[in-house]
Amino acid sequence: MSANKSVTVIGLGPMGRATVKALLDAGYDVTVWNRSRPGLDAAAALGARPAATVAEAVAANDTVLLSLIHYDAMYGVLEQAPADLTGTTVVNLSSDSPDNTRKGAAWVAERGGAFLTGAYMTQSDDLHHAASRLYVSGPKALHDTNRTLLETLVPTVHHLGEDHGLAQVYYQAGLAQFHAFLTSFEQALAIVEASGADIDRFVAFATESPESNVDFMRYFAESAKQGGWGDTANLKMMHAGAQHVIDTAEEVGVDADLTRTIQDYYRRALDASEATGQAVPVYRVLRGKA
Ligand SMILES: NC(=O)c1ccc[n+]([C@@H]2O[C@H](COP(=O)([O-])OP(=O)(O)OC[C@H]3O[C@@H](n4cnc5c(N)ncnc54)[C@H](OP(=O)(O)O)[C@@H]3O)[C@@H](O)[C@H]2O)c1
Repeated sequence: MSANKSVTVIGLGPMGRATVKALLDAGYDVTVWNRSRPGLDAAAALGARPAATVAEAVAANDTVLLSLIHYDAMYGVLEQAPADLTGTTVVNLSSDSPDNTRKGAAWVAERGGAFLTGAYMTQSDDLHHAASRLYVSGPKALHDTNRTLLETLVPTVHHLGEDHGLAQVYYQAGLAQFHAFLTSFEQALAIVEASGADIDRFVAFATESPESNVDFMRYFAESAKQGGWGDTANLKMMHAGAQHVIDTAEEVGVDADLTRTIQDYYRRALDASEATGQAVPVYRVLRGKA
């Protein structure tokens, strides 16, 4: 069993390998296992000790970090080790839905293991980036016991609560925003480039006032607590504005489906407003309360 500063990492994709590197840099002895050879070889090249089997990897240390594509992968992997996980703490750093995570936590508990959810809210695999965070949920006492280890991985660790699903709620909400942001930004770049305008100039404008986005986030968050932003005039203006983006994109052959989807939310909010005789914000449509 483990000495101090000794840990197992299972799952050696980009995030698993970044995790291994952070631990090795901090002086940890790291045992690793991966489903396929390339990840294992890459981690071994960093200085980790490859285990021949999952059973060997789990037995090597009291704490096992998982970095897998989803929670389903955890079952297939850990079923290759003895069913009794008494004395083992599993910290699953993989992304998944809150309910899948709660089921995973219960599955580990049934086998006698302790479980923490760790959701990497990171700047890709740059774990030491100042903006990288780890959202943790599960028993506070278990978090506190593992705090030093977790703080080795990223500059900031947030324990969000005892509910194992909670770290995923915050992570997936952030990811929802991030996916939409990246895709809409690519759409904007495509419009600029296809129009023969200058991408660098656009980026200079787009990044000029980041505090503007922060202001909108705070304002919309306050509005959400009151039921959402927008009266009928606002919603009509946004619907018409979305049409202008669609027309601009189509004039230069850029796909406008993203904006059509967004415009559809304004349409649904306007239809609901008309049906109920009072303004129904997009937020209420999203909440399924229109
Ligand atoms: N990349 C990021 O920027 C980022 C940031 C935050 C969070 N995350 C999350 O971190 C987790 C790991 O991400 P990642 O970027 O390293 O790559 P990934 O492609 O999501 O996961 C790769 C790892 O999962 C393993 N795997 C996939 N299917 C498996 C299965 N059925 N059984 C056993 N192992 C399986 C892979 O093994 P093989 O090598 O054998 O294929 C590899 O070790 C994911 O949940 C991801 O969403 C990623």
